[in-house]
Amino acid sequence: MNFQDRVVLITGASNGIGRRLAIDLATRGAIVVGCGRSLERLQATSAEMQRTSPLSTAIKCDVAKLDQVREMVTGVLSKFGKIDILINNAGIGMRKPFAETPIEVIEELMRTNYLGVVYCTHAALPSMIARGSGHIVNISSVAGKIGALNIAGYCASKFAMNGLSESLYYELTPLGINVSVICPGPVRTNFNKSFDDTPPKSPASLVVSPEFVSAAIIKAIEGRRFEVVLPHWLALICWFKQATPNLFRAIAGRNFRRIVETKKT
Ligand SMILES: NC(=O)c1ccc[n+]([C@@H]2O[C@H](COP(=O)([O-])OP(=O)(O)OC[C@H]3O[C@@H](n4cnc5c(N)ncnc54)[C@H](OP(=O)(O)O)[C@@H]3O)[C@@H](O)[C@H]2O)c1
Repeated sequence: MNFQDRVVLITGASNGIGRRLAIDLATRGAIVVGCGRSLERLQATSAEMQRTSPLSTAIKCDVAKLDQVREMVTGVLSKFGKIDILINNAGIGMRKPFAETPIEVIEELMRTNYLGVVYCTHAALPSMIARGSGHIVNISSVAGKIGALNIAGYCASKFAMNGLSESLYYELTPLGINVSVICPGPVRTNFNKSFDDTPPKSPASLVVSPEFVSAAIIKAIEGRRFEVVLPHWLALICWFKQATPNLFRAIAGRNFRRIVETKKT
C-alpha cells in the first residue's frame, strides 16, 4: 500500500507506540494528524513528522471527551477533506486488585480505552462510508484476549475493544472499510510508569519495542489483516486458550496463585 498523501488520524501520538507510528507513517509520505492531551509532547512529535511530511500536524484532544473528539474529527475533515486511516491507539492502564480499585479508575479506563475508540470511530465513519473506503485500526492488547491478575479494569476495556472490532469487521468490510485490531504483549514504553512504580518483570522474549509494533501495524494495514498478536508466537497461546479454555484456565490459575503466594512471603 502506498501511504503517500493518505490522511491518517492517530490518537495518543504524544508518546510510545503512537508517537513511533506517527513518525514512521509521516516518513512514508502520509499526512498524519496526531492527538493527545499533552500539547508539549505533541509538539515534539509534530516537529519530527514535519521533517518528512510538512502537512502533518498535532491536535490537543482528550479522546474520553465526546465534544473534543467531534471537534477534532470535524477539523481534520474540513482541513484535509478525508480520513483514510483512523488509528485508535490512546490508552491508559492500571494495576491493582479489583476490590481495591476505585470505581473512578475503572470508569476512566473504560472512557479512555473503550469509549474513546467508540467516539473517534463514530465521528470518522460517516465520511468513510460516504467515500466507500477507509481503515480503522484499534490498538488493543493481549489483555483483550486473555484475562490476567490485578488488571481487571484494563482487561475489560480491551476485551470490549476486541468485541467492537470484530463486530465492526463484519459491518464495515462490505462497505469497503477495513478493520484491524492489534494485540501486543508488553511493549517497551513509559505506559506502566504512570500507574506502577514496580511493574512485574516480563520475560525478555515477550517484550517488544515500539519500532517493532509500529512496523507490524503498518504491515497489518498494507495486508488488510484483521487481527495481529505481537510477538507473533503469543498468538499460539491465544489459540490454546480458545481451543481448550478449561485447561488453559487451570494452568493460568495455578501460575497466578503461585505469583500471589510468592508476594505474600
Ligand atoms: N506498553 C505496553 O506494554 C502495551 C501493551 C499492549 C497494548 N498497549 C496499548 O498500546 C497503546 C499505546 O500505549 P503505549 O505503550 O504507547 O503507552 P504510552 O507511552 O503511555 O502512550 C499512551 C498515549 O496515549 C495518550 N493518551 C492517554 N490518554 C489519552 C486521552 N484521554 N486522550 C488522548 N490521548 C490519550 C497519551 O498522551 P497524553 O498523555 O498526552 O494524553 C500517549 O500519547 C495503548 O492503548 C495501550 O493500552 C500497550
